[in-house]
Amino acid sequence: MPPGRHKITRRSPLPDRSLKRRFQQRLLKWYAAHGRDLPWRNTSNPYHILVSEVMLQQTQVDRVIPKYHEFLDRYPSFEDLAEAPVKEVKNTWYPLGYNIRPLRLHSIACETVARYDGKLPRGAEDLLSFKGIGRYTAGAIRSFAFNEDAPILDTNVMRVLHRIFIAKGDPKTQKARLWELSEALIPPGKGYDFNQALMDFGAMSCTARNPSCRPCPMKSICKTYPFKAKRAGRV
Ligand code: ADE
Repeated sequence: MPPGRHKITRRSPLPDRSLKRRFQQRLLKWYAAHGRDLPWRNTSNPYHILVSEVMLQQTQVDRVIPKYHEFLDRYPSFEDLAEAPVKEVKNTWYPLGYNIRPLRLHSIACETVARYDGKLPRGAEDLLSFKGIGRYTAGAIRSFAFNEDAPILDTNVMRVLHRIFIAKGDPKTQKARLWELSEALIPPGKGYDFNQALMDFGAMSCTARNPSCRPCPMKSICKTYPFKAKRAGRV
């Protein structure tokens, strides 16, 4: 392309009502049959949800589970975490790695205590005003702790939505569209289950390499079906 010219990529339209409904019903049915029973799904405590989400940002579920319990035993509330010395929090975090995360959690705890009386706010703007809470974490807290129909978008969700509804181009350059999709697809009142289902579907079925296309309930609506190995390497 000549210098100075920009490639115009036409956005695929948002799914119509019927496609949306098929996707929602199939995903929720799949989740009812295959969803995982994870400890942070048995609580609506915003602090517990926050700890789980920060741990899960870079770490596999199996490694997170024991540390999640250990961390909450040691720091049962925002106040306990805020009062703990940062060095000790870092040591408790070991060996999860990406050690900026315990520092961020500690700073969120201090801010929650100082500005919100130890209770995490539920509004998107308030949550996004915290250092260390980005759009994904805000959406996860709003949907998993406060039962709001708030969208989420992490690598797994990006991959699922891109494969099924877009199929063209690189998902990483289409984040705005993928956020719109993630929001538009939530069945009203069911943001909690829908978002948890998207997570599990991406982690267990629509995986980055070797997705389970044959038994996939989405195959008749999926723009990428059947997934070809040459596409591997993309998220
Ligand atoms: N990864 C990030 N959040 C998650 C959740 N709530 N359940 C499973 N995996 C996740």
